[in-house]
Amino acid sequence: MNTSLIRPLKLGNKLFPNNLTQGPLAGYSCAPLRVLANQHGQPAFCYTEMLSAKNLATQSKISPRFSFKDPQEGPVCFQLSGTDPADLSKAVERVIGFGADLIDLNCGCPVSKIRQKGAGSKLLENPELLKKLIMAMKSATQNHIPISIKIRIDQNTQNSLTAALIAQEAGVDFITIHGRHWTEGYDIPCQQDPIAEIISKLEIPVMANGDAHDTASTLSLLKNTGAAGVMIARASVGQPWLFKQIQTESDGKIFTQPSIEKIGELFLEHLSGLINLEGEKIAVLQSRKLIKYYGRSLTLCLELTEQAQKIISFHEMSELTKQYFI
Ligand SMILES: Cc1cc2nc3c(=O)[nH]c(=O)nc-3n(C[C@H](O)[C@H](O)[C@H](O)COP(=O)(O)O)c2cc1C
Repeated sequence: MNTSLIRPLKLGNKLFPNNLTQGPLAGYSCAPLRVLANQHGQPAFCYTEMLSAKNLATQSKISPRFSFKDPQEGPVCFQLSGTDPADLSKAVERVIGFGADLIDLNCGCPVSKIRQKGAGSKLLENPELLKKLIMAMKSATQNHIPISIKIRIDQNTQNSLTAALIAQEAGVDFITIHGRHWTEGYDIPCQQDPIAEIISKLEIPVMANGDAHDTASTLSLLKNTGAAGVMIARASVGQPWLFKQIQTESDGKIFTQPSIEKIGELFLEHLSGLINLEGEKIAVLQSRKLIKYYGRSLTLCLELTEQAQKIISFHEMSELTKQYFI
């Protein structure tokens, strides 16, 4: 294994002990997910899910799911979505108040509702607006907090490359590139060559993203793209130790995975965190989709996931967990 691929990371004025981040996942990324990642895996930093800059700029009350940063967490990158520089500027001030350590602008979301507003991946087709948004964000941070964009590749890399160069010129501290086109969703294999091509034209650090799910896939993404680091999104759900595992194994050492019983305990810890954040009813509903990630190594994962769909209380979920995670 090449030990130098996992290494300290400097982004803007911040130095991180390693170059692995936990990526944003709408419906999953909130304080309890991040706390577990920090306690068991210690990534460089974790993301919030994408937050509407308009809502942050105009609504006085923001749900703790989107705003709460737990004192037990490490650094958090708040991810914003929007098309209005004034909204972005206010949203930046707002998330700084929530404790943002870094701030990202989403330029990759493929959802049609978002694209219709000109936001998400649609921003890659509008470099002039992108530049204004980044400059508004940058000036709202007064250069104290690293700013980034997260983009997708496109077929001939032209829009992505133009956007990346414009973003660099406008002052972003780094860029994250997901190796799929916006029409490609999440399930077809990620392409690494277009990420490498964009990286070769940039001077700022780039985080590569897509399909890193273990040590080998993370190291090959780093090696094949020349990226400064890797963002891991889906594979980190239900495996908060993954970041530690990759750091350990890339050093040539043996990592011992937690026992099935311990994984069940981690799932219940996650659920308890969600209950503190949003109350039992909503938290249990969310845990119904979380359980398949914690149970991914169980032979009876499908059966467990089906059983979980009927559960309505922490007590019942706890009993179900004891039954399967042994
Ligand atoms: C359910 C789901 C929700 C997502 N939500 C976001 C989001 O809010 N912001 C974002 O930039 N990307 C989002 N993504 C994309 C991921 O951050 C990541 O780019 C993608 O899953 C590829 O990385 P992975 O293979 O490590 O999962 C989402 C992906 C999924 C599957």
